[in-house]
Amino acid sequence: MSVPAPAPPMGLIIELTHRCPLQCAYCSNPLAMDAPRSELTTDEWLDVLDQAAEIGILQVHFSGGEPMARRDLVQLVAHAAARGLYTNIITSGVLLTDAAMAALLAAGIDHIQLSFQDAHAAPADRIGGYHGGHEKKLAAARRIREAGLPLTANFVIHRQNIERVGEMIALGEELGAERMEIAHTQYYGWALLNRDALLPSAEQLAFVNGVVAQARERLNGRIAIDYVVPDYHAARPKACMGGWGNRFINISPSGKALPCHAAETLPGFTFPSVREQRLRDIWASSDAFTRFRGTDWMPEPCRACDRREIDWGGCRCQALAIAGDAAATDPACHRSPDHHLMAEAIAAAGANTVLDFVPRRLNQD
Ligand code: SF4
Ligand code: FES
Repeated sequence: MSVPAPAPPMGLIIELTHRCPLQCAYCSNPLAMDAPRSELTTDEWLDVLDQAAEIGILQVHFSGGEPMARRDLVQLVAHAAARGLYTNIITSGVLLTDAAMAALLAAGIDHIQLSFQDAHAAPADRIGGYHGGHEKKLAAARRIREAGLPLTANFVIHRQNIERVGEMIALGEELGAERMEIAHTQYYGWALLNRDALLPSAEQLAFVNGVVAQARERLNGRIAIDYVVPDYHAARPKACMGGWGNRFINISPSGKALPCHAAETLPGFTFPSVREQRLRDIWASSDAFTRFRGTDWMPEPCRACDRREIDWGGCRCQALAIAGDAAATDPACHRSPDHHLMAEAIAAAGANTVLDFVPRRLNQD
């Protein structure tokens, strides 16, 4: 069964800028990032927010790069809140000063997701490429709690910090997080480039699974822990973005409307720009959003599978990255003819003893 006429998207993910003070080796931003001079102007973003409210979008997630690197973030949050949109900021926290916190609170911010690289300063600052970053994040977490906002602490897990997952959970507790996200790295963009230095082994994964299960039991009813498992070790794929063109619109800093943050890696697509087209039309009828929407596009084994409207065939960008075909079944699925490529990638990473990585860098002016 296909999905002919889509309901309005649930969420709008706004990548305000690709600029970021950090250089995380596991960043999922594209290797070719948008130059600052190509970013949408304040007025253009305000118009996008108006359009989002008009078509019935409920939530707006301000992301990046580092969204706080944009001077107009407070103005944009205030505008979104005034239009009745639920507002969330996904931030590294290193720019969240007392003044910025007060301004965001006055603007009506609903929620802040704060990312951490590790439980301790030295390894956190190494992987993030920002000396002193961890201390700033601890201060940011305290500001968020003191402002009375709910705090979600995100911890991204990979081979170089995996043994400290218990300490990361303890840090989240100490900081008063309502929710923690323990997310294995998703291998797109810079993370894909650095995969051999980041991908954990099956034994390391089993260790994290045990620590998270124990913490969930202990913290039950107090702190929710979302756990995102790594696709490479999975038997079934994730429902990436809740299905292509099904729940979210992602807008790049220069205004391209994308069904997911990594979509620009897919060949043969022209992604519509909010500078030229209305959000309503982009969502309803653009080739970019309809090509993999629903189930009509699916190959076997997805086409006849009873999970096809649960995981929507997995992730198109991963199918391209691993199997070389964006229209293939996600190789994370045990039914995919390419599933063996995941085990081969794990083996290649396991054989790699070099822990160096390429730091994420914006090389454009
Ligand atoms: Fe999902 Fe396709 Fe695998 Fe079925 S065959 S579980 S629909 S990816
Ligand atoms: Fe693009 Fe999954 S990241 S579809």
